[in-house]
Amino acid sequence: MENPNYMRRIRSFVLRQGHLSAGQERALADFGPRFCIPYAAEALDLTAAFGREAPRVLEIGFGMGQATAEIAAGRPDTDFLGVEVHTPGVGSLLKLIGEQGIGNIRIVQHDAVEVIEHMLTPDSLDGVHIYFPDPWHKKRHNKRRLVQPDFIKQLLSRVKVGGYLHLATDWEDYAVQMLEVLSAEPLLENTADGYAPRPDYRPLTKFENRGIKLGHGVWDLVFRRKAG
Ligand SMILES: C[S@@+](CC[C@H](N)C(=O)[O-])C[C@H]1O[C@@H](n2cnc3c(N)ncnc32)[C@H](O)[C@@H]1O
Repeated sequence: MENPNYMRRIRSFVLRQGHLSAGQERALADFGPRFCIPYAAEALDLTAAFGREAPRVLEIGFGMGQATAEIAAGRPDTDFLGVEVHTPGVGSLLKLIGEQGIGNIRIVQHDAVEVIEHMLTPDSLDGVHIYFPDPWHKKRHNKRRLVQPDFIKQLLSRVKVGGYLHLATDWEDYAVQMLEVLSAEPLLENTADGYAPRPDYRPLTKFENRGIKLGHGVWDLVFRRKAG
């Protein structure tokens, strides 16, 4: 018999052990209780979590969190919910939050697919950031890519009309897939003619700067949710 959970076992990440620095470990202990929200398969009260009503942006897979911290510091009137599975990344972002006194970030350490499905309610998001998602570049691994029609549909059910999706990748073949998937979704409209110029709020990462100097491309996509 076909296992109905089969699809759910294809994850967009592989949990790596990864080295946890002393600073990250301290940040997890010092700031985790205040800024991390434990995963639970029930609706999350975002107003209670952030302690205010403000526009809300979900970031999926923030890595070490440098861009997240910089964006949140530069947009203090918006609240950012970062979702990441990798513990050193969570420790790293908590360290930045603590060092810089950033108040508008909360973190859920869990698979974003399940967070979206169980913790986020319809029309709860004003924006979504997905920066440099794992490219899963081998053909047989392409199915692990996050940006696929069903995932985008599920994600959009949590985004308000007028809210935005902002994606970026340095992997051309994935950029093409992103553009195809987002363009084919009837609930979305492109804010640009194809790829978008990098919005000012997204900082260039060190890694990206190096790539650009070597002549490598980076593609941003910014789409808006339509009424439907
Ligand atoms: C290639 S890294 C990019 C990190 C960061 N956005 C950046 O630009 O440096 C992709 C990140 O997404 C995380 N990730 C992948 N799938 C995820 C999922 N389903 N839920 C949460 N995090 C995920 C991985 O753990 C990894 O840290």
